[in-house]
Amino acid sequence: MPGDKSISHRYAIVAAVAEGTSRIENYATGADCRSTLECLRALGVEITAEGSTVQISGRGLDGLQAPSGDLDAGNSGSTMRMLAGILAGNPFTSRIKGDDSLSRRPMDRIIIPLRKMGASVEAREGRFPPIEIHGGRLRAIDYELPVPSAQVKSCVLFAGLYAEGITTVREPVVTRDHTEIALREFGASIDKSGGVIRLEGRPRLSARNLTAPSDLSSAAFFLVAALLIPDSELLLEGVGLNPTRAALLDFLVAMGADLRIQNLSSLNGELAGDIVVRHSPVRGGVIEKALSAALIDEIPILAVLGAASQEGLLVRDARELRLKETDRIATVAENLRRMGVAIEVREDGFQVPGRQKFHAATLDSYGDHRIAMAFAVAALAAGGESIIEGAEAASVSFPEFFDTLKRLAQ
Ligand code: S3P
Repeated sequence: MPGDKSISHRYAIVAAVAEGTSRIENYATGADCRSTLECLRALGVEITAEGSTVQISGRGLDGLQAPSGDLDAGNSGSTMRMLAGILAGNPFTSRIKGDDSLSRRPMDRIIIPLRKMGASVEAREGRFPPIEIHGGRLRAIDYELPVPSAQVKSCVLFAGLYAEGITTVREPVVTRDHTEIALREFGASIDKSGGVIRLEGRPRLSARNLTAPSDLSSAAFFLVAALLIPDSELLLEGVGLNPTRAALLDFLVAMGADLRIQNLSSLNGELAGDIVVRHSPVRGGVIEKALSAALIDEIPILAVLGAASQEGLLVRDARELRLKETDRIATVAENLRRMGVAIEVREDGFQVPGRQKFHAATLDSYGDHRIAMAFAVAALAAGGESIIEGAEAASVSFPEFFDTLKRLAQ
């Protein structure tokens, strides 16, 4: 599996504002993490990338340069939202744009806290990209996240690096904590207890050599493929198992999946391990409340598994799905229906009855990497020939996806 996308973005951004040269192994190979590197280069950061090894010459907290043109986050919400936190602390004007999909995604969730911290931020219609940031001196704030979003949390924490004093973020629902772990690794003073994160501003960050674990959200497609396809057995090595990311594994096990974890280790504060998965029938389940946030990226592929499960899958409290690279409630439903699979859509989720058969069909990724990959797995389960239009979207997080799938499906 490729390196973890979430962790790679964070390592690159923090390395860029640290002092000294950091080396990151197993950096995510997808287009999103390349967008982050390109934006950092446009801010004067020297970066060499060879395969999945990236070397970043940090410029220190105050060493970034004003970009000469727009920064392009491409399809990557993480790039735009997290980098905005850094840019807010820098005394120059920058503009970040994105592709058509990203241009439709809400940025008010970061604009509101960044303005509270003292940055001036403008956006199209007040909330959509491109966003223009006039950065400068920031003040520390105490901010409660109104939506469970690790990107928003990270944006505030990155801005908090530039503020004097303690920036506090309160999260009513736990979200992935890669930023907290990465900041600590690079030397920041940050602590977390009971959903309250406190970061001391103006730390001295020092370069590190780090290895990203492999991406559990990418592994998810292969875990489900192995569960669905008779006689499958897969070993996925060195996968990130950070407890704030690993709800998928508990959920699959609770469904009855034959899944084992072995060789646990810690990689720069991130838990990692090998996963062995075997074809097995699964019962089905309910995803709601905090679990919806914890599984948000895995819901498209779990919808596919749910249709083949014994009791089906109910998803609610997952309105955030509508704000991802596509409206994933709509794009999951459309593709399942094209395969002859029933689904009942709700405002905040959906219900997929179990024991359904997939029929080969012409499908559409709608330019969304996770939809492309989820329905490649569904197509595999269908047998016959399916066509996925816009399948190349998979390269946003997992350029090797179809080659790997082909190798395993032979
Ligand atoms: C991410 C957080 C999640 C997730 C996205 C990656 C991150 O988004 O869906 O794929 O790396 O912090 P939100 O913060 O919008 O929930």
